[in-house]
Amino acid sequence: MISRRTLLGMVAGAGAGSGLGGIGRMLGSRQESAAAATPGVRTFHLETRAVSWELAPGRTVKAMAYNGRVPGPEIRVREGQRIRIVLKNSLAEPTTIHWHGVDVPNAMDGVPGVTQKAVQPGETFVYEFDARPAGTRWYHTHFQEHRQMDLGLAAPLIIEPAAPEPLAYDREVTLVLDDWATGAAEPLPPTREGTAGGRGSTGGMMGGMMRGGSMMGGRGMGGMMGGGMMGRRAKAHEPAYDTMTINGRAYPATVPLRLRKGERVRLRLINASNEHTHVVRLAGHRLHVTHTDGNPLDSAVAVDAIPIAPSERYDVVVIAEHPGAWLLHCTQPGHARAGEQMLVLYEGDSATRPTAAESSLDGLRLWQYGLGRGRQILPPPDGATRTFEQTLSGGMMGSDVWTINGKVWPRTDPLALARGERAVVRFRNMSMEAHPMHLHGQSFRVLAINDVRLEVPIVKDSVDIEGHMGSAIVELTAHNPGDWLLHCHKPMHMDGGMISLVKVS
Ligand code: C2O
Ligand code: CU
Repeated sequence: MISRRTLLGMVAGAGAGSGLGGIGRMLGSRQESAAAATPGVRTFHLETRAVSWELAPGRTVKAMAYNGRVPGPEIRVREGQRIRIVLKNSLAEPTTIHWHGVDVPNAMDGVPGVTQKAVQPGETFVYEFDARPAGTRWYHTHFQEHRQMDLGLAAPLIIEPAAPEPLAYDREVTLVLDDWATGAAEPLPPTREGTAGGRGSTGGMMGGMMRGGSMMGGRGMGGMMGGGMMGRRAKAHEPAYDTMTINGRAYPATVPLRLRKGERVRLRLINASNEHTHVVRLAGHRLHVTHTDGNPLDSAVAVDAIPIAPSERYDVVVIAEHPGAWLLHCTQPGHARAGEQMLVLYEGDSATRPTAAESSLDGLRLWQYGLGRGRQILPPPDGATRTFEQTLSGGMMGSDVWTINGKVWPRTDPLALARGERAVVRFRNMSMEAHPMHLHGQSFRVLAINDVRLEVPIVKDSVDIEGHMGSAIVELTAHNPGDWLLHCHKPMHMDGGMISLVKVS
């Protein structure tokens, strides 16, 4: 396994040169050195290129990588640190980088056609911003994500808090979950309806569906509609996902996690999948949820499994108190078998063969948004409150058109805000698939899910809105000026039009 230090070494190489001149500009290859060292700025170099990537022995795919790795190298910096990322595009096609969950200046946001021109093959582009807020962030391509993200252009960006966190743990591990369409295996059933919000309080529809043993459709109201009208097969234009990875490897090639009895390990879980929600469980252990999309909860919430929609992140602490051999795995039908599992072994324990991954969630406590009490880290509003409705629809009878208020991007109506104003955005999902809606440039509070208020809002930048009339109300203070995308993080749905623009002036 490559240590974090080595990874940083791989990205942090910096040459000599004058700096500043290159920020936010395209550089010809000869001018690259202009994007190097400036005092007080940490420089990272990323190069995108096509690679062959071995998901597991005997399963090598054509992929796209940052610095030759899938996921790309973890960038780890201190909150408030000014960072410069020199992106060299060695792909045969354009690309950009979006810094997901980071409050970057608008011009650094990486959205082609909105905040910058796409970086052409052979070109270099310099991103520079102050790393904040602290938390588990990530970076990924924002150019034809349905292909480029699918092929591996995603990586962790960890911003360590400037002040020590009130959180006890001994060490940490970042796990990036991803789905792959290799064509080499049977496609997995789609996880369309979503799970992250839960249906009301425990014992609601969600609880019922889970007791029925099938959370993702097939039974229960959601499943009936999804199964009946659209079938469980991937649509014609949708990639058929058949392989699931943790840190770019499918089991048994996943790197085992070794635990010492008594230690507390913080896992930073990032779902970089384009399509699939994962429900992560560590057999024999509870997961203590401490952060939602990188943002702290007031106190940890102990659960048995945690649904993670595309683009969501959860930090969880595992207390190593049950020596043995275990599997950390996804409980979604077929996912563990498709590679989404890894060994968790206790040092000095003789057990090396884990019991097989169990997919039943019977009797288990599943994370849902309403269980968290968020720390109120967002700036308070000092202006008017504006309310916006975002009705999500589309995908009818297998169509690839996805709408917001009946319109497709770029014809969707922008949400206009002045700096300091408070926006309340009410999402209602009239379609049959879940939509993890992500806002660029600033995080929001989740006030309500499926018409149930959260006692204390949690802070997130993606909110998964379940299919079949699922809903969410989020609130934000417009503090970052610019044009920010608000979109579904399933790239096929973005492509189909499910994007609107939040304009902060
Ligand atoms: Cu994670 Cu528009 O992106
Ligand atoms: Cu969607």
